[in-house]
Amino acid sequence: MNPEFAGGPLLIQILYLAASALFILALKWMNAPPTARRGILAGETGMVLAIVGTLLQHGMVDYKWILVALVIGSGIGVPLGLVQMTAVPQRTALSHAFGAFCVTLVGTAEFYLRTPKVPGFMMSVLCCEVILGGLTVTGSLMAAGKLQEVLPQRPITYTGQNVVNLSLLAVAIAIAVYLVHNPGATHLYPFMVGISLVFGVMLVIPIGGADMPTVISLLNSYAGLSAAAMGFVLNNKLLIIAGALDGSSGFILSVIMSKAMNRSFTNVLFGAFGQVAASSTTVQEARPVKSASPEEAAGILAAASKVVIVPGYGMAVAQAQHKVRELFDALSKRGVDVRFAIHPVAGRMPGHMNVLLAEADVPYDRLMEMDEINGDFPQVDVSLIIGANDVTNPAAKTDTSSPIYGMPILDVEKSHNVMVIKRSMNPGFAGIDNPLYYMDRTLMLFGDAKVFVTNIVKELSGAHA
Ligand code: TAP
Repeated sequence: MNPEFAGGPLLIQILYLAASALFILALKWMNAPPTARRGILAGETGMVLAIVGTLLQHGMVDYKWILVALVIGSGIGVPLGLVQMTAVPQRTALSHAFGAFCVTLVGTAEFYLRTPKVPGFMMSVLCCEVILGGLTVTGSLMAAGKLQEVLPQRPITYTGQNVVNLSLLAVAIAIAVYLVHNPGATHLYPFMVGISLVFGVMLVIPIGGADMPTVISLLNSYAGLSAAAMGFVLNNKLLIIAGALDGSSGFILSVIMSKAMNRSFTNVLFGAFGQVAASSTTVQEARPVKSASPEEAAGILAAASKVVIVPGYGMAVAQAQHKVRELFDALSKRGVDVRFAIHPVAGRMPGHMNVLLAEADVPYDRLMEMDEINGDFPQVDVSLIIGANDVTNPAAKTDTSSPIYGMPILDVEKSHNVMVIKRSMNPGFAGIDNPLYYMDRTLMLFGDAKVFVTNIVKELSGAHA
């Protein structure tokens, strides 16, 4: 550290300390919808302070090149930030790929600058940094490609795949161990990096597109750990703290997502889930269902005293959240008690429904988590399901052969009436039929979520006038 002005080192430490505290607060505040915006702001401010602190280390930087990098980075970052909400998972994967690419480049630069005089500990963390960074780059690109459907979504598997993958990882680790003892063996270094890059591809191709959000969260964790390792290499405490926070929060999130889907990590990583979706995207047999029009649905809702709205992925696809808010207002005005039941993995990314409903200004105190609301369904007059499917599938409780058996679901089938807005009888993410649709008290409301909800709202306001 070599700032040119007096008090510089102290100022940098203060900036780094403030940034670390803001990162911790950001994670805490992002835990709940009412404080989430403050959390984002805290994270952004922390990042600005971290960048300012780093730029003040004048001996280490050349402002001309930093400016060029800033322009290029902003040129990529701004359009990335403007993608549709449904494309946020793949956008996030791309961010991890960029972060990990940066970590891998820094590790490589440090290796060639320091070799052959690299102490054992330093070389070990540098190898961790580069192996984790390398596999995160290609793993994240594969995940983004699968989600964007530029790569096949289905799991690509072959016999002995796990052995091949583990052998690749073992070779990379063996080279790392050799380099720790012989840091002058520069000819081996590119092989270690190359193998980690190949390993990232091999790790992700056997996983179905459907499981990508969990994989992305795991790769987020790897990116964080590699950044923490980079912190040790560069002797930068802020990087160690931020990397550790990123690594642990990504890991915890993956665990939460796996639990909410009743899947183990091993099952996500090696289970080739998502194959089911490919084989059963059409319904096997035509069974009779009862359907209703927007007018009929509006009548039933208007006559109810307790309504629970269950949003799912289809609401996100249709961008129906603002219309859903209008429906909430129209019913509340009539004295109907309306609440929202939020399943932890509804949609395609953590907090997907919360974010959409917050964007539409639905009051936070109307959003109930699954455990809070499940006991109330027997007293609910109407459960209105908007573009949700798997998270309401009662087969998860009873059908041991179902791929979602054991996944906790919203007990909507216990309410007096169930209405389901979706476009067809096609299955959702898990690719399976939903017995809820054939129940006596279920009405199917076929149509696009936004259009159907708009029509219900029109009916309600017409009848009200
Ligand atoms: P899904 O089970 O995927 O069902 C969504 C339904 O929305 C589909 O059946 C589809 O039926 C309907 N739909 C699509 N576009 C629509 C539109 N424009 N208008 C109306 N309906 C539309 O969604 P879910 O219930 O939210 O469950 C989420 C699933 O994703 C779970 O299986 C979960 O395990 C998985 N998953 C979630 C996450 C996270 S973190 N959220 C991560 C990984 C996996 P039609 O085609 O007939 O319209």
